[in-house]
Amino acid sequence: MRRVRYEVNGGPEVLFLEDVPVPVAGPGELLVRVGAIGVSLPAVRRVREAAEPLPLGGEVAGTVEAAGGGVTGFRAGDRVTGICFAHGYAELAVVHASTASHVPDAATAVDAVALVRGGLVARGAWEAARPVAGESVLVTGAASGVGQLAVQLARLEGASRVVAAAGSAAKAQFLCGLGADEVVTYGDASWGAPVDIVLDAVGGALLAPAIAALAPGGRLVAYSSGGGTVQAYDLLAGAKSVIGFQMAHLVRTRPGAYARWRDELWHLHATGRLRAHVHAELPLADAARAHALIESRANQGKVVLVP
Ligand SMILES: NC(=O)c1ccc[n+]([C@@H]2O[C@H](COP(=O)([O-])OP(=O)(O)OC[C@H]3O[C@@H](n4cnc5c(N)ncnc54)[C@H](OP(=O)(O)O)[C@@H]3O)[C@@H](O)[C@H]2O)c1
Repeated sequence: MRRVRYEVNGGPEVLFLEDVPVPVAGPGELLVRVGAIGVSLPAVRRVREAAEPLPLGGEVAGTVEAAGGGVTGFRAGDRVTGICFAHGYAELAVVHASTASHVPDAATAVDAVALVRGGLVARGAWEAARPVAGESVLVTGAASGVGQLAVQLARLEGASRVVAAAGSAAKAQFLCGLGADEVVTYGDASWGAPVDIVLDAVGGALLAPAIAALAPGGRLVAYSSGGGTVQAYDLLAGAKSVIGFQMAHLVRTRPGAYARWRDELWHLHATGRLRAHVHAELPLADAARAHALIESRANQGKVVLVP
């Protein structure tokens, strides 16, 4: 079978396709014939920055070929989506059954990788802010795979004002289509009136202006892989908070909420109230092009590979 890997850190050009034996599902694992692979910023960053080359994992969706020992609830032929911690940019991948869920008949594998993981991050980040009815929210990285869903969920959850922030004004039409009331770009002199909640997908140098965008008592949820430094005085002045959100922690500590929110995402999707927009569907052999697209910061929605 074909898979994509890299041996040295670098840009998209270090990715290469190779032929390897089909992996074997171990205890608690599923072997999945992959129909779609979600490409995400954390994976792109790992190729550039990880201390040593790591397998290109992430969210995949497809059909179960075989279930490893001790797996219950899944069998060969089931359509599933889940997280691959090993090589996921591949025609066949091993998914840990604890992260897997069934894909509804009406949905495609591409729908699944665009909706589930990103939607759970967006929903988890929103809940981490402990929102109160009618609060206002600003979402950075609003056109990213996660951000597009965060904007829509904030709207659906009744936010009084949704501000979408992105790197370029070229994304404004897309962001308004998601339900944003206002669109700002990071370079704008003002991000508008202060907000109660910031959901931050960018971090780094953007963290300070994002904290400054909070109203007194406001909360910023930091869920990006972009790092950044928080000055305690910026929090004290205005009684603001910064809250970290990590998906792995949610899965470990609140498996019930994780499963319930996943079902809710599919329900919103099936009823047409939530759309997981796909910017590009590319063949596996074009993985480098998918990474380059994300590094160019041009995507409006999810980038997906289709083996
Ligand atoms: N905490 C968790 O458990 C968790 C899980 C998954 C993802 N995440 C985080 O969620 C964020 C969004 O991820 P994603 O996979 O949805 O993104 P994505 O679909 O790959 O979208 C990439 C977009 O992110 C923005 N971006 C911000 N900083 C960037 C940078 N340094 N390089 C390239 N693009 C950058 C760009 O839009 P703009 O230029 O418009 O900002 C770009 O178009 C990431 O920070 C990721 O680490 C967190």
